[in-house]
Amino acid sequence: MQFGDEGKAKVIDYFLITRDYDAVARYHGGGNAGHTQVDRHGNEVITHIIPSGIRKKGVYNAILSGVMVDPLEAVKEITELREMGYKVNISNLGISERAQITLQYHKDFERRQERKKGGKAVGTTMKGISPTAVSTHAREGLRFAEFVDPYYFEKFLESLPKSYKNFFERMTSILRKSGNVVANGVNVRKYMEMYEYAMNFLRPFKIDEADFLERMKDKNLLYESAQGALLDVVLGTVPYVTASETCNPPADTDKIIGVSKAYITRVGGGNLPTRMELEEEKIIRGVRGETAGAEFGATTGRPRNCGWFDGIIAKFAAREGRVDNVFLTKLDRLSGFPEIKVATAYRYKGDIIKSFPAERLVFEEVEPVYRGFPGWMDDIGDAREPGDLPQNTRNYVKRLEDMMERKITHVSVGPKAEQTIELI
Ligand code: GDP
Ligand code: IMO
Ligand code: MG
Repeated sequence: MQFGDEGKAKVIDYFLITRDYDAVARYHGGGNAGHTQVDRHGNEVITHIIPSGIRKKGVYNAILSGVMVDPLEAVKEITELREMGYKVNISNLGISERAQITLQYHKDFERRQERKKGGKAVGTTMKGISPTAVSTHAREGLRFAEFVDPYYFEKFLESLPKSYKNFFERMTSILRKSGNVVANGVNVRKYMEMYEYAMNFLRPFKIDEADFLERMKDKNLLYESAQGALLDVVLGTVPYVTASETCNPPADTDKIIGVSKAYITRVGGGNLPTRMELEEEKIIRGVRGETAGAEFGATTGRPRNCGWFDGIIAKFAAREGRVDNVFLTKLDRLSGFPEIKVATAYRYKGDIIKSFPAERLVFEEVEPVYRGFPGWMDDIGDAREPGDLPQNTRNYVKRLEDMMERKITHVSVGPKAEQTIELI
């Protein structure tokens, strides 16, 4: 419900433990996501394109066609999960034959674009997301089924349109000298070699998505979203957004759980109106103990900027995201503030704004109007019942609920699945 990293993977972990699900499916985004689960012993498991059900026995994991798959990263992720002792094979993982493939030239292109933008760079994760989405919409995308078949992959590379030549002028001239076959800027032979291992490794995971969805009709399927509502390419804080429609859930969703932090963070470019003072951010990050050093990106390791809960953003996300109920995370991180602030409106050039502005320049310049609430000092990581929470904490949760106009059904007080309080 914010700018990503709200704890979505922890929420999936909790639901897989407390309810029966047959499968978890990712349906958008790609390697830009960094989804962290923490096992009972405190070990972190971070996934990027593999759905967060992979740790759970008996749960199938599907990567659907809306996901952008970088084959080299997919191989790395599966290998790392296996090294950690998790089973990953065709009995618990499938990749849609129509998933879009991210190739090296997407990443090269993105690096160049970001560099050209200088101070106005989006601050992307450099995982080739936007260029892959551009390829898809330019009708020049490669599908997983084609990637894993050397014949179709080679034909695809050779068919790349002339426009690709412009992206790779420099590369082309270097490669020409080496005498390789170059199709409009992309070195076909080099690509075939670079991806050969991944092609063979990933081939068995190919699934028929339509068939999977049909089978899921009478089963329990949990869709795992990525990024955050405000990073939606249409609705969000353009141009500082990702390249998928993060607010657009699959049509067969019965119930939508919005995941929101009890404060807010953002990594990458773009305004964060409620950004905290550095001293306040230190309290959120934790300066000592086992939880020290929180709020660093799970994909890029960049520090996330931290801010007070933004009621304008939360309400917009609840409405546009068609959120039924809210799962509030990281409430434990707010322990230690004598006063907690919440933005209830924005101020822009003397006017008060009460809803998320569509004009990008307005959002970049708004200033928050705050309301203060008394905080709490106790560590709440061991709370398991609503009654275990200090009264001020419960009051704070209630205020957020009013602002979002949605029931908060769960509160998360730590990264482990069991560190969750059900409020109903
Ligand atoms: P996601 O991208 O939404 O899945 O979230 P990330 O994994 O990128 O970032 C969330 C971080 O917060 C991870 O390090 C989680 O382990 C951690 N986390 C999740 N829920 C809680 C919580 O309630 N309290 C604390 N302290 N950490 C949490
Ligand atoms: P999860 O699923 C937080 C941000 C990037 C950048 C912008 C565009 O872990 O919540 P992109 O690489 O997508 O073109 O970058 O979006 N971003 C995320 N921020 N969590 C994510 O995913 C993100 N995925 C992209 O930092 O500002
Ligand atoms: Mg993340």
